Amino acid sequence: MSAPKYHLTSYGCQMNKLDSELVESKLRQRGYQLAASEGEASVVLINTCSVRQHAEDRVWSKLGQLRMRKRTEPQLVVGVLGCMAQEHKQFMLARMPHVDLVVGPSAFGDIDQTVEQARIRNLELVSKQRPSLGKRKVLGAGVVAVDLGVSGDTIVRDVKVRPHRSQAFVSIMRGCNMPCTYCIVPTTRGEEISRPIADIVEEASRLCADGVTEMTLLGQTVNAYGRDLGTGVTLARLLRALHEIPALRRLAFITSHPNFLSADLIAAMAELPKLARYLHLPVQSGSNAVLKNMRRGYTVERYLARVEQLLLAAPDFVLHSDFIVGYPGETDADFAKTVALVLQVQFAQSYIFKYSPRPGTVAAELADDVPLAIKEARNQELLNVQEEITQRQHIALIGSTQEVLVEGPSQSDPLRLSGRTAHHRIVHFDGFSEDLVGRYVPVRIRAALGHSLLGDKLGETDAEQGVHDKVESVRV
Ligand code: SAH
Ligand code: SF4
Ligand code: F3S
Repeated sequence: MSAPKYHLTSYGCQMNKLDSELVESKLRQRGYQLAASEGEASVVLINTCSVRQHAEDRVWSKLGQLRMRKRTEPQLVVGVLGCMAQEHKQFMLARMPHVDLVVGPSAFGDIDQTVEQARIRNLELVSKQRPSLGKRKVLGAGVVAVDLGVSGDTIVRDVKVRPHRSQAFVSIMRGCNMPCTYCIVPTTRGEEISRPIADIVEEASRLCADGVTEMTLLGQTVNAYGRDLGTGVTLARLLRALHEIPALRRLAFITSHPNFLSADLIAAMAELPKLARYLHLPVQSGSNAVLKNMRRGYTVERYLARVEQLLLAAPDFVLHSDFIVGYPGETDADFAKTVALVLQVQFAQSYIFKYSPRPGTVAAELADDVPLAIKEARNQELLNVQEEITQRQHIALIGSTQEVLVEGPSQSDPLRLSGRTAHHRIVHFDGFSEDLVGRYVPVRIRAALGHSLLGDKLGETDAEQGVHDKVESVRV
């Protein structure tokens, strides 16, 4: 019999995408094959996100489509994985008979077994049905695997299963112990669990031996790494250990929480040249009243003091942030403080979200009292402020030479290549060549495109010259 074919789509954050890679690793070890398209797959898996209503709505509509398909293909296995599986397991079990398996993030370690169980069960049920009923009956809601305590971190990773030749994500911790009032992640992902440092270094070494040169460490509060282990190990120590891997050239970590930006982490950031030069440090709001309501655990002043310490020690870092606009009770004056903070810090990049109440969270008990139109207006205004800052930073980079890790063809123009600088800025340059993908090339910037930069690849001799003006100096 031919190998079963699967198709897997990720709807969530980087952690969700990495989980999908780990799930694929497991399925392939069991002999499953990746289908060329979803239509050709006999197992369709969707890895889901609960962070905002919009993320969930996309999945509900996808599940509606799969219900239609299942009417004519009753043996099809439909699996919901990830955060929504954890959050809506009861509903799916009771109300969605076309869903065959529901697997939460802490049950990925056994995913191959769970999928196989559902597949066999469907085949058996279909073979028992009378042909006249075969097309009508909807099977499913069979296998539910949540809270098993075997997250993707228990999977011995097949390093070959990864989307990029030279880049990889590595999970260093799971879950989140923070009390942010609006956030569903601690519910869907559970308690903070850090991986032992030796396991991470081993996995990283295998990835680098297989060609990875840029690694991004993942955790919801990645800079709190180690605090649950009780061994005194910290992110700074882990960074220093990984820095020793000779083939590794760039090392990044997301997402950091302002409260854990410690002196030893700042020292490591200043000292380790392989670290990517950006820090994703979400502040969420520029108003102390809103931060207090969100239970973020810091004030704007404290955030700024930490950032100042960092930039004093490591001035070439740029900052990225997340913002929520329209949190319950947020006034025009609160929002104006957020705008002022963005202008003061001059973030290189901001992700801006409209507040979305998540059932079961503390904030969901409050009235969602900022009207949608106002949320949208604030979102747009903050976006404009950020875009202007980014644009100004990009213009200041014209004429500089940047080391670009080439990721692949540009999305808007296949004759161009795109990659990222150590500051995580996207750079496009002319001249497609497959050979350059995965390489670090010097590019002289000639234009600012708003969300990205445009430049010309330099020859080898120019490259040596370029090294001298590589460091950005756009911060004011
Ligand atoms: N652990 C990370 C990221 C969490 S989710 C952190 O703490 O920074 C990513 C972002 O989604 C958050 O930073 C926040 O800005 C946003 N977010 C989380 N819950 C939200 C909600 N209920 N409504 C709108 N945005 C939300
Ligand atoms: Fe959510 Fe806060 Fe944890 Fe981030 S730190 S995942 S926003 S609870
Ligand atoms: Fe979404 Fe879960 Fe990530 S809720 S943001 S997929 S941790």
